[in-house]
Order: sequence, then C-alpha cells, then structure tokens
Amino acid sequence: MTREKPKNLWLSRWGFILAATGSAVGLGNIWKFPYITGEYGGGAFVLMYLACILAIGIPVMMTEIAIGRRGRGSPIDAISRVVKESGGSQLWKAVGGMAMLAGFMILCFYVVVAGWAFAYTVKMLDGSLAATSVEALGGVFEAHNANPWQLGGWSVLVALLTLWIVAKGVQKGIENAVRWMMPGLAVMLLILVGYAFTSGGFSAGFDFLFSFDASKITGEALLAALGHAFFTLSLASGAILTYGSYLPDGQSVARTTFVVAICDTCVALLAGLAIFPIIFANGMSPSAGPGLIFMSLPLAFQQMPFGTAFGVLFFAMVSIAALTSAISMIEATVAYLNEKYGVSRFKAAAASGAVLLVISLLAMLSFNLMSGWTPMGKNFFDWLDYLTSRWMMPLGGIFIVLLAGYSLRSDIMRDELNLPPLAYALWLFMVRYVCPVLIMVVFLHALGWLMFDPVAQWYWIAGAVGLLAVLGELLRPRVVLALAGR
Ligand code: PHE
Repeated sequence: MTREKPKNLWLSRWGFILAATGSAVGLGNIWKFPYITGEYGGGAFVLMYLACILAIGIPVMMTEIAIGRRGRGSPIDAISRVVKESGGSQLWKAVGGMAMLAGFMILCFYVVVAGWAFAYTVKMLDGSLAATSVEALGGVFEAHNANPWQLGGWSVLVALLTLWIVAKGVQKGIENAVRWMMPGLAVMLLILVGYAFTSGGFSAGFDFLFSFDASKITGEALLAALGHAFFTLSLASGAILTYGSYLPDGQSVARTTFVVAICDTCVALLAGLAIFPIIFANGMSPSAGPGLIFMSLPLAFQQMPFGTAFGVLFFAMVSIAALTSAISMIEATVAYLNEKYGVSRFKAAAASGAVLLVISLLAMLSFNLMSGWTPMGKNFFDWLDYLTSRWMMPLGGIFIVLLAGYSLRSDIMRDELNLPPLAYALWLFMVRYVCPVLIMVVFLHALGWLMFDPVAQWYWIAGAVGLLAVLGELLRPRVVLALAGR
C-alpha cells in the first residue's frame, strides 16, 4: 500500500521542533506545574512527574508522532489509515476522537488562564499590581475574576486570536511565533531565577522542589503527576499527533521527541525555581492554588530594578507561550473538519470557535456568576481540567500504546521510528508493558482499589511488568493475533 501523501509540511527543518515545543511549553509549565507541585507538597511530586515523563511521556510522544506521520492526517484520519494498513479494527478511530475532544475541552478552560496572563501584561503597565503584599495581590486577582466582563473579555480575546492564527494556516503563524518566543522565555525565566536566588527564600524553595518525602506519594498525587505529564507534553489531545502528521519523512522521531521533552521539563523546573523562593521569602503558602503565580511574581517584579519592564516582558512571553499551546489544541479539530468535510480552514475554525466560545463562557463564569455551581465540589473550570488531565489523557495514552504495541503491523512503527535495534526493542517494551501497566496501576490506585505502601509499590509494579512481559511474549502471537482476527 502506498503511503498517504502529506498535504501540509513544516517549512523548515526546525519547524516541527519549534511548533511541538511551542505546544508543549505553555501554561502547563509556568502556571500549572508550580501550583500543583505546591498542592501536592513538593519534591515527591516533582520526582513522580519526572518519572512519568521518562517512562510514559517520551514513549507515548514517539508513538503519537510516528502514527501521525504515517497516517498523515487529523487523529481520527491518521489512526484510521494506519489501522487499515494493518488490517485492524476501525474502532480504534474512537481513540483519535477522544483525543480531539480532550484537546477541545482543555482549550475551553485554557483560554481563561491565558486571559489572566494577557491581562497581567497590561496590569503590570497600568500600576494595578502596585500592591506590596501577597494578600493584596491576591485581592487584585480575586477582583479581576469577580468581574465577568473583565475576565470574559480577556478570555474571548485569547479565543479569537487562537482561531485567527489557526485559520491562517499552520506554517507561517505557528512557526514564526515560536522561533523567537522560546529563547526569550528561557532568558526571562533565568532572570527571575537569578532574582529568586537573592530573595532570601532560595534554599527553602529549592528544598521544597527537590527534597524527597516518601510519605507524600499518594495515589491521588501519582494520578496528578501522570495527568500532568500528559498535559505538559500535549499528549493524548490530538496536538502532537496532528503536528507529527506534518513532519517530513526522514526526520528522526526519537530525536525530536527528546528535544521537545527536555525543553519542556527545563522550563517547568526553571519556573518552579523562580516561583517557590519568592513564595517562601514572602511567607506565602505554596498551596494557594491556580492564582499562585499571579499573586507571587508581581511582588518580585516590584522589588527588582527595571521590574516593570521585566514584568511586562515576562507576562507577554507567558501569553505567547499560552497562544502557541492553544493553537495546537484546536489544530486537530480544524484539520479533521477540513479533511473530512472539505470546508476551508477558515470555516472550520469559525465553526469550532462558536462551540468554543459557548463552553468557555461557562468556564469564565465559574469564577463569578456561577461560582456557586459546584457539582461534587468542583466548579465547571475545575471539571474540565479534572476530566481531561486525570482521566481522558491517561486513558487515551493507554489506548495509543496498545494500538502501537499490539495492533499495528510491526513494520509500520519500525519504519517510522527507524531506530537502532536495541532502542527499538526498548521502545516496544515500554509501549507493550511498562506504559499500560503503570497507567493502569495509577488508575487503580487512585480509585482506591490497589493499596500498598509507597516504597513496596515499586516492587509490585516492577514485578507486574516483568510477569506480563514474559507471559505476553509467550502468549502474544496466539491470543492477541486471534483477537485481532489475524
Ligand atoms: N502542553 C501545554 C502546556 O503545558 C498544554 C496543552 C495540552 C497543549 C494539550 C496542547 C494539548 O501548557
């Protein structure tokens, strides 16, 4: 069977890396990572997160890029093609559908957070962040959210900008924006880390991030770390798979994956090193929740020389980082509508934008008019985040690795990944055994169905993976192929 011809390709050799890094590096690194690390108590969470990136995030990202490139299309179309090529069931398309839905749901709350970053860029300038205590800055943040017009206006602006860039097409908009944004953001973060170093809270912040306390490993925290690994690498949400579908043949999937994952992790750790020292130096609690960076960083900017200029630049960079991520969340849907129904990218963006505006409105109202509506203790904004990060993305991840590990014809992934034999064997081992078992264990643990003490659990997991690997290799040819009807 001949391979699908690509319709769109990245323009430059760096196009994919830039765009995928632009997608991965976003509010997840600068806003979410610090605040959930604060909520789950620091070092142990950071370690779990790093382990999830290494053991699950990287193999899953390689898989998604390879499937995207092989199938050359939106998640649904790409999966449909690779499955067809392998003679498997078209039901696998549902995995692509769920990923697209997850990307869309994330965008619905992401525009609100990105709106905060945009608003704070302006607030840095107009003096509304002149308050000199964390409490007062917390008040500014709350007042901003209490006003639906203000909060909504910024979020709608972000949504419209995102749709506009996506409508214009892949290459120019996305590639150009990330080319200078990424280095700029890294420099800004280094400056902030430098400031944090002098703030008097550096060692407290450093310890919080990197000192390991086994008692903080809980099922809930593990699920959060796993979900965040997916979120921060833009996995199981259609973004990376669709970007992968524009990757020219001949570029190394593994190398690009490592570059993106390393950049993403560095930005998150730098953000943590910039933020926690300031928090501890000012007697603020690290578990302040989603407002954490908006209440702490302006204080640092006020105290440093040229602080206003740095502050404006910083929030502007965060806004752009958020935009390059937001674009990738809806790219899959636009690519799908474009391919499936033949509508122009512009119309596809307009149609998805209409739905986006309605649903994200509910997320904006969660902070003011609808703040009393909290079914099962979560408002609408929290529900979107919770459902996608904790459930949809890890589940999507399991199915993607099962698809690649068991259902696809083995030469497909081998060709696309084009790795030395040992590296390929390692990838295969990870997607067949380690990733599915780890994700399942984390799920079962979070549901309270698996309980073991924090240290012994690693023996259990290693044992389960080993046993499954042996059994799987012995039985696989017969059982799995029989199930797949081949
Ligand atoms: N990775 C992005 C971030 O860290 C969020 C994202 C999730 C982007 C899913 C695309 C798809 O901010």
